[in-house]
Amino acid sequence: MTALQRKPKLNATHAMLQDHQNTPSFPLWNLTPSGQKLGARIEGFDLAKPMDDNAVRAIIQALGQYGVLSFSKQSLSAQGLRDFSANFGELEINVANMYQAPGLPEVMILSNMKKDGVPLGIADAGQDWHTDMSYSRMIAFSNVLHGIRIPVRDGVSLGNTEFSCMKSAYATLSDPWKETLQGLTVTHDFEKFWNKMRLEKGSARPALTAQQKASKPPVSHPLVMDHPITHARVLYANPGYAMRINEMSPAQSDETLAYLFEHQLQAAFRHQHVWREGDVLMWDNFGTIHNAVADYTPDEPRFIHRCQVMATRFFNADGSAKTHEETGF
Ligand code: SIN
Repeated sequence: MTALQRKPKLNATHAMLQDHQNTPSFPLWNLTPSGQKLGARIEGFDLAKPMDDNAVRAIIQALGQYGVLSFSKQSLSAQGLRDFSANFGELEINVANMYQAPGLPEVMILSNMKKDGVPLGIADAGQDWHTDMSYSRMIAFSNVLHGIRIPVRDGVSLGNTEFSCMKSAYATLSDPWKETLQGLTVTHDFEKFWNKMRLEKGSARPALTAQQKASKPPVSHPLVMDHPITHARVLYANPGYAMRINEMSPAQSDETLAYLFEHQLQAAFRHQHVWREGDVLMWDNFGTIHNAVADYTPDEPRFIHRCQVMATRFFNADGSAKTHEETGF
């Protein structure tokens, strides 16, 4: 390695400060990387305060770099979470159209709690490996969750959210595999995960109505994506929604997806967010897949507000990628 190729060692905060040396209002937060392929904790940054473009840009950059960010000790109303999330793109209103915060359809409630026997939220959201919105023409950029009640048993947090790094998953494929996957596309279907929850996991979700299905027809996306922030290649296929590789026979597709689904969950790529009440957890859906761990009982309350930021900052309505000039990344 030549001296030019060798980069000086910087801690994460300094590295980002250096990227933004012309932006004096850059937030001086305290960022601690997890040391794994994904994950960083940010302290001393109040998400309830209005944010300028430099702060928004710095968070996007950190999301690209670390994939999963947690902001400690946040006190946010449902409206506050909505306003913070809206800095990053258009917010989704979930196709199921249920369990929304009063008057705020963009804020969904994930909870196993009930009031007078009536569920306060969706009790089994995300309880298997998936990538949110891969079934949509406009895919998701980021989920933003605020942990309001977190189950704890014997001092240990339950209901953690686990992630796997799709940059590592792509990078560790053999060269022949990379060549095989080049240019391929995958069909993703919303109904796959919904039915898996109903038929395999005993979920009380009703079957999707014809209207709900019609509003989310299956869509195709490239199997390998150029990450819109970092421009690293990432594997964009997840067991929750990926149905088939369009350019292969059904049997070849099944075999290839089975291989990729196993490959992408290696322990070395994984990170688990251990929830604490007040955490805001934000992740990059381009470069990660995730799973909500269902290890708590109905008597152990969990209550989370969630916003889903669509990738409108990075993609056009027809699915084509915006240019570097348009996104700034
Ligand atoms: C999800 O958005 O998939 C749910 C994650 C969680 O509840 O931990």
